Amino acid sequence: MLLKRLFSPAKKVDILRKLDYMGFMKNHLGLILISLFFFAACGGPSSPPEPELSTEERLALPANIVNGERLFRTCAVCHDKAKEGAHRVGPKMWGVYGQAAAVHKDFSYSAAMRRSDVIWDDASLDAYIRAPREIVPGTRMAFDGEPDPANRRDIVAFLKTLQD
Ligand code: HEC
Repeated sequence: MLLKRLFSPAKKVDILRKLDYMGFMKNHLGLILISLFFFAACGGPSSPPEPELSTEERLALPANIVNGERLFRTCAVCHDKAKEGAHRVGPKMWGVYGQAAAVHKDFSYSAAMRRSDVIWDDASLDAYIRAPREIVPGTRMAFDGEPDPANRRDIVAFLKTLQD
């Protein structure tokens, strides 16, 4: 029964087709590799060249506060944004921008955060949101980091609005 099915004419045609396809790949492998190389060399159609910007230039680009507030939802698991908000796993974010790290005296920060001499401005917030432990080694903030510079710029612009 199984043998019959294996050697049925339909199966044979199928196998022949596969062999034919492999023959094509073999004959044209060079061509395929060359086109792949050019495709890779051009970076593909969807990745325009990234301009090389300094941190200052990058942070000075216009930010989208509305998008920043939307992105803040991932932070809001741990951080309240309201002026009269409460601390959660992390301290509330009201009044943090422009201040020295560990500004809320009623929140128990890590020793690393209390001892850091970071002032929260555009550049330090950008760095902290990108990789918290790089700028405050030993911080308790369990956040992997936001890799997209435009997203970080938007989040920082939103944090800037959380003050009187
Ligand atoms: C899993 C919880 C968690 C998430 C998610 C999280 N944080 Fe935090 N965050 C903390 C904790 C805890 C601290 C206190 C860290 C310490 O004391 O070392 C902190 C500290 C901070 C501080 C320093 C505050 C101060 O008073 O000095 C900033 C700024 C901050 N977080 C911003 C953010 C932003 C922006 C996001 C989202 C992109 C985010 N955090 C996501 C838990 C979190």
